[in-house]
Amino acid sequence: MSKLSRLEGKVAIVTGAASGIGAETVKTFVENGAFVVIADINDELGHQVATSIGLDKVSYHHCDVRDEKQVEATVAFALEKYGTLDIMFSNAGIGGAIHSILELNLNEFDNMLAINIRGSAASIKHAARVMVERKIRGSIICTASVVATIAGSTGHDYTTSKSGLLGLVRSACGELGAYGIRVNSISPYVVGTPLTCSELNMEVSEVEAIGIGSSNLKGITLKTTHIAEAALFLASDESAYISGHNLVVDGGFSVINSCVPSITK
Ligand SMILES: NC(=O)c1ccc[n+]([C@@H]2O[C@H](COP(=O)([O-])OP(=O)(O)OC[C@H]3O[C@@H](n4cnc5c(N)ncnc54)[C@H](O)[C@@H]3O)[C@@H](O)[C@H]2O)c1
Repeated sequence: MSKLSRLEGKVAIVTGAASGIGAETVKTFVENGAFVVIADINDELGHQVATSIGLDKVSYHHCDVRDEKQVEATVAFALEKYGTLDIMFSNAGIGGAIHSILELNLNEFDNMLAINIRGSAASIKHAARVMVERKIRGSIICTASVVATIAGSTGHDYTTSKSGLLGLVRSACGELGAYGIRVNSISPYVVGTPLTCSELNMEVSEVEAIGIGSSNLKGITLKTTHIAEAALFLASDESAYISGHNLVVDGGFSVINSCVPSITK
C-alpha cells in the first residue's frame, strides 16, 4: 500500500471541519484516498475548505451537532452522496473563558456540554446505527483534550466536557466492539487554532509560544498536522485492534510532574 492510500475509497464525516484541526484532517484524509463530508455550522468557511481541497472528494453539509436531527441528516447525506460511512471523526467543539467555580455560568456550562459531549453522543449514535445495520467495521474517533487527563489549564466547563467525553468513548467502545466497530479519542495539547486564539485573544504564534514554553518535548511545535496524522492512524487499518484508547498527543506533558525539576534542566 502506498503511503498515500491509507484510506483508499473510505468515506468519512468530520464534524467541526470548517477550521483548525478538523479542516487539516479533511485534507489528510483526502490525500490518503478518502471521500469526506465536512459537517459544521460555519457555512462560508466550510464551503471554502471543501472547494480548496476539491469538490470531487469533499462536500460540505451544514450540521449543528447540538441538534440530533441535523446529525442524522448529515449521516444520511454521506450515505446518499458516497454510498457508505466508514469513519466518523467527531471533532466539533468549543472552548471558553476560564472562570472561578464560584462564578460558574451554568448556561454556558450547558452549552459547552451540549456541543462537546452531547454532540459527540449524537455523532456516535447515528454513525454507529448505520455501521451496525450495514455491517461496516467502522472507526469512530472523538477529539477530547489533554485536560481530560490533567486538569487546571482551562475552564471547569471545558475540562468537564472533555473528561466526560472519555467516558462516552469507553462506554461506546464496550458496546460497539461486538460489531467490529472501534471507538477511540485523541487528546491534543495546545494547538494554535481559531479556538485557542479567540479563547486567549492571541495570534497563532503567541498561542504556540505558550505551548512551547510549557511543553515537555522540546524542539517541535504542535501543529494541526500532528493531530490529523493521529486521526489518520486511528481511522486506518493500521490501528485495526485499537479501541477504547485515548491517544494523547502532548509530547509527554500529562505524564510528567513539572513541579519536580528535570535532571537535564
Ligand atoms: N486547539 C487546541 O489547542 C485543542 C486542544 C485540545 C482539544 N481541542 C479540540 O479540538 C477540536 C477542534 O478544535 P480546533 O482547535 O480545531 O478549533 P476551531 O475553532 O478551529 O474548530 C472548531 C470547529 O467546530 C465548529 N463548531 C463549533 N460549534 C459547532 C456545532 N455546534 N456544530 C458543529 N460544528 C461546530 C466551528 O465552527 C469550527 O469550525 C475541539 O473539539 C477542541 O475542543 C483543541
